[in-house]
Amino acid sequence: MPDQHLLALQLEHLKQLQSRYEHALESHGYNTLLMASGFAPYQYGDDQAWHFQGYGPFLHWTGLTGREHCWLLIRVGQKPVLWLYEPIDFWHAGRPLPEEPWLQAVEVRSRRTPDAPELTTCNGLAVIGDPVLLDGLPGDINPPALLKALDETRVHKTDYEIGCLAHANTLALEGHRAAQTAFLNGESEFAISLAYQQATRQREADAPYHSIIGLNEHAGTLHYQYYDIQPPGLPRSLLIDAGVRYRGYCSDITRTTAGSGEAHFAALVQGLERLQLRLCAMVAPGVDYIDIHRKAHQGLAVLLSASGLVKGLDDEAIVEQGITRAFFPHGIGHFLGVQVHDVAGRPVPPPEDAPFLRLTRMLEPGMVVTIEPGLYFIPSLLRPLLSGPLGHHLNRELLDELQGCGGIRIEDNVVVSDSGHTNLTRKAEP
Ligand code: GLY
Ligand code: MN
Ligand code: MN
Repeated sequence: MPDQHLLALQLEHLKQLQSRYEHALESHGYNTLLMASGFAPYQYGDDQAWHFQGYGPFLHWTGLTGREHCWLLIRVGQKPVLWLYEPIDFWHAGRPLPEEPWLQAVEVRSRRTPDAPELTTCNGLAVIGDPVLLDGLPGDINPPALLKALDETRVHKTDYEIGCLAHANTLALEGHRAAQTAFLNGESEFAISLAYQQATRQREADAPYHSIIGLNEHAGTLHYQYYDIQPPGLPRSLLIDAGVRYRGYCSDITRTTAGSGEAHFAALVQGLERLQLRLCAMVAPGVDYIDIHRKAHQGLAVLLSASGLVKGLDDEAIVEQGITRAFFPHGIGHFLGVQVHDVAGRPVPPPEDAPFLRLTRMLEPGMVVTIEPGLYFIPSLLRPLLSGPLGHHLNRELLDELQGCGGIRIEDNVVVSDSGHTNLTRKAEP
């Protein structure tokens, strides 16, 4: 049971959403919005469905993940109506909603069929959701300008949302501690994943994303997706990128641990963590997020020099010649919310030298971002560098040694406050 304070904040959250939605609807010529929670389609040629989590706007209002075929009606000046899909079904279990105060702010109606509820009037109606469910419905279907405005309502988190994100961090850190212990005990990727799930009390399918758990060179694949059942002969490194969903809200945390006897790798992990904390400290209103990304590259250049991985080039040249990009090929982070890569991060395209950056905005109070610098030894990116004109600046011997450790990423979840920031991940550390 969540604490009373959070439940009280949820009522305030719903009031704010009502006001944000009313504004978005009226400015686009609507007064009524119907949204579908979504459904899990069947896999091609099979009778099994994909695992379902839920449509972002529906989660934003209700936090109810895993609820297919529900509908939510938002009207200007009226209480929201939530149609809960509760079929008579002996194949699957139903799950009643826990009695919580927010249900008094919403009119809940039970429904046996999955189709959209019939509305008495369709003037000024917009309908949003998975288009497969909306075929033939009245009103404007997924109007792009309105969708964009509704995405914008998710950018500045309410106090309730920040409370949920904070708790999702606390839960995930329990998993990260268990994962690190399992690694230090010599366990396999598979066993580490079980330790994480056990500690977070969350099955992997319900997590915000598939946990990335890479030992040794696997840590160098950014979204490594397998779990070896056998532990490696010599465990040299662990990279775990894993989160938890709490009341719909996601944490997204990465930690890297060096195995015993890995002095060079351990020093790089420490160096990257110092850099990561400096980047987190930059988070504040009025800061351009792209500048944090650029600072990450400058900091990496310093680290590459100091560790002896790159020699004979000054820090500026290391960045300008694209060397840091070979070691850190992704963006510094993204918005976080009911989706792990939350919406509305790229009103303008990313700069040419940062094509994968998912957030290109000035930071404002209430935004929640990840800060996740990395330093990887990825053979397909290092090979061209080593065989090109800059190759003699790289320390091949040290690179050969470190390639077996894969890479490093350190990722925290950070709220932009009125005057600076709150690091939800570090704050949740015991
Ligand atoms: N876990 C995916 C990411 O960090 O963006
Ligand atoms: Mn992550
Ligand atoms: Mn992330």
